[in-house]
Order: sequence, then C-alpha cells, then structure tokens
Amino acid sequence: MSSKDQNVLMCTFGKEVHEGLTSFPKYLSSKFFYDELGDKLFQKIMDLPEYYLTNAEYDIFQLHKTNILKSFDASKKGFDLIELGAGDGKKTKVLLKELLKESYPVTYHPIDISKHAIDGLVDNLASELSELQVQGQIGEYFEVLDRLKHISDRKKVIMVLGSNIGNLLHPRAIQFLKKLNSVMNTDDEVFIGFDQKKHPQKVLDAYNDKTGVTAAFNKNILTRINRELGGNFDLDAFIHWEVYDPESGTAKSYLVSTKKQTVDIDCLELQVQFEAWESIHTEISQKYDDDTVKWLAEESGFVITDAFSDKDKYYKNYVFKKSE
Ligand SMILES: C[S@@+](CC[C@H](N)C(=O)[O-])C[C@H]1O[C@@H](n2cnc3c(N)ncnc32)[C@H](O)[C@@H]1O
Repeated sequence: MSSKDQNVLMCTFGKEVHEGLTSFPKYLSSKFFYDELGDKLFQKIMDLPEYYLTNAEYDIFQLHKTNILKSFDASKKGFDLIELGAGDGKKTKVLLKELLKESYPVTYHPIDISKHAIDGLVDNLASELSELQVQGQIGEYFEVLDRLKHISDRKKVIMVLGSNIGNLLHPRAIQFLKKLNSVMNTDDEVFIGFDQKKHPQKVLDAYNDKTGVTAAFNKNILTRINRELGGNFDLDAFIHWEVYDPESGTAKSYLVSTKKQTVDIDCLELQVQFEAWESIHTEISQKYDDDTVKWLAEESGFVITDAFSDKDKYYKNYVFKKSE
C-alpha cells in the first residue's frame, strides 16, 4: 500500500471514530475490527463450532463448484474474478483450485480494507497456487468500486462472500449494490452470499461463543483506538453484548460500559463520557430470506439468475445480473 493510501485509511479511521463516539447513541463501524490481530481473531471465529456461516458457505462451494463456475463462464472465454472483503480466502480457494484444474483463463483480484489480510492472501496464493494470476488491492468497498471499471475489458465476476453484505442495513446495502451495478457491463455478474434467517438461538450463539473469541474480536476496535489514536479505553470496563430481532432479521453487537467513565483519545483531542451501561453499537449481521434478497436485487437494478444453498439451508449464494 502506498503511504498515501495508508494515510487515507488512517484519516478515515480517526474521522469516523470521532463521529461515532460523539453521536448519541454511540457507534463504531465493524470495518475497523480488522487489523493483524482482528484478522487472526476472525480466523479463530471461523473455526468455532457456533459460527456455522463459514462451513455452510464452504459446503456450497464443495457441493456446487462445477455449476458455480459454469454460471461464471460457461464458454471459458476468460474473466476477472474480483472479491470484495476477501479476508484469508479460505473458501475462495476451493473455487480457485477448480478454476485452475479446469484451465479457466482467470485473474483473481482480492480486495480488502485490511493490509494484513491482502498481504497474507497474496503470499499464500503465490506458494499454494503459483500458476494463478493474482492482483491484490487494499481499499474500502465503496471507494474501490470506481477502480473496478477499468481493471480490464474482460467479463467481471464480483464476489462478496461471508455474508459481508449483512454488515450493511438495507438502505446502505442498496446504495452499495447500486454502485456495484453502475461499474458493471451487461455480461458481468455478482456472486454474493446472504446468511438466511433461522432459529434465533443459533444466530445468537454464532456471535456470542462460550470461549469469548467474539468478545475479544469486538473489543479489538477499542484496542485499535488505544494503539493507533492514543486512546485509554479500559477493555475490562466494557462487555460484549449480542441481540437478535427475528422480525427484522437483524443481529446487532454492542460494547456496553459497565460503569460511568471518561475515555481520552489524544490524537483526536477528544474526551468521551460514558454513563454506566451506555452502549457503543459496533456491528450489524443481517439475516435474510428469498423475498428480501429479491427485493434488494430489484431495488438495485439486478435480477437473480441462480442460487446455491448448503444442505441445512442455513446460507445461500445468489448470482445477480443487471436487469435489462
Ligand atoms: C466477515 S470477514 C469475511 C472474510 C471473507 N469474505 C470470508 O467469507 O471468509 C469480512 C472481511 O471484509 C473486510 N472488510 C470489512 N469491511 C470492509 C470494507 N468496508 N471495505 C473493504 N473490506 C472490508 C474485512 O477486513 C474482512 O477481511
């Protein structure tokens, strides 16, 4: 990453932390969970028995890889596979191996806000799948979309896995999908994972594991503020709290202050007052059904052309194309 890109991400972090902690109610964006430690904690989350999402999407890839790739490029003319929020690419590698095995002409463009994640993934692919063409980019979804238009003249398949879309409430998800639509050509497609509504307890458990890994992941945002912005958050004075509303399908994560306290953030010249039991909202993990996904697609100028589910029907990946 150039030092300019790094500065932009740092400024965005400081600006958004300032905005979120001076608002009422307080909030911080989940996109700031991810740095070296956050990436490692998320990898641990993916291995937790409670976090069904990863296995479900992995199953979909294992079960349906041939048909998924056919839906991407039946004639094997070649395409650019762009992944937004790629993380460690654990599940994507199932598809990438199949693409190589079947000699699809493809360049893989993983994009992520975390420099650590992109550097790790690019290095890992260079050793595990050395024949694959890879061009990693660091950046925020909304900002990198404009760059995508000019990647090449080939067909583009844009993947959004891990139910990353679920971190956005519906109006913001529509804004994101509309922007995606605006950089696509008629033949391009989106391959996107949506975690499905299910037993509310199963959803709650996925974001509130017994071993406390999710709590540590949630608190990593405070660790980052302490380290990168000169904050003095006492991590023991906040608890991780998860709620799920089965009506709207929205799971929300909070950090709750267990006492009245003041936190200084030196780089922002900011003092933040917390009342006892005041919350910071940190993450949304939206759950969906077919009707909601169809509505989101239509609102954003897409049609659903295919869908793939795991055996338990916990999770679905949909193929979106631009509507005529
Ligand atoms: C829940 S993880 C999922 C990772 C991967 N897609 C998977 O399914 O395993 C979310 C990933 O998206 C990245 N991310 C989150 N918000 C982002 C944003 N606004 N722009 C770019 N990347 C983002 C994070 O750094 C992280 O690697």
